[in-house]
Amino acid sequence: MIKHKIVLLGDASVGKTSIILRYSKNIFVPFQESTIGAAFSQLNTPLSKGGTFRLDVWDTAGQERYASLAPMYYRDAQGAIIVYDVTSRDSFERAREWVRDVKANALPDLQIWLCANKTDLTTQRRITTDTGSLFAEETSCKYAETSAKSNVGINELFTSIADAISER
Ligand code: GTP
Repeated sequence: MIKHKIVLLGDASVGKTSIILRYSKNIFVPFQESTIGAAFSQLNTPLSKGGTFRLDVWDTAGQERYASLAPMYYRDAQGAIIVYDVTSRDSFERAREWVRDVKANALPDLQIWLCANKTDLTTQRRITTDTGSLFAEETSCKYAETSAKSNVGINELFTSIADAISER
């Protein structure tokens, strides 16, 4: 069976696990524990033309001490979701580094979604839509805005990934 491997990357606490939990179980955990190593899930994702498509998703740990493991997960992936927290400039800078690292080391046809999470925190927002989407455009990534807390943009993100990967 053909595997469609997707990896979530990004700084600690940007909301990678929360995005998966919202998508797979429709729950939000306000004090979600940090991922250790990486967590695997299989997601049956609807396609916009109808039908479903299975994605094998690796949710990696964002803490710096696990950073050296990440290439193991993204090297043979078809898609990467690189997440930052719109209230954290550091997490955006880290996402930029991830884009560079992934492009240098992954399969040439890997597609990247730059995902701006926590858009519900409007008053604390530091990274605007323009800044995020411009960087995505410059680096040929797709751009998505999400809130795992408010369930905004999550289904659209996974359907866009399933559509893009199933059409290749
Ligand atoms: P690591 O496992 O350490 O890499 O973190 P992570 O990127 O998986 O983040 P996680 O999902 O554990 O979320 C970190 C914290 O941010 C948790 O307390 C979540 O409840 C919170 N959080 C995640 N997504 C959102 C969001 O969209 N909005 C808000 N307000 N909080 C969020």
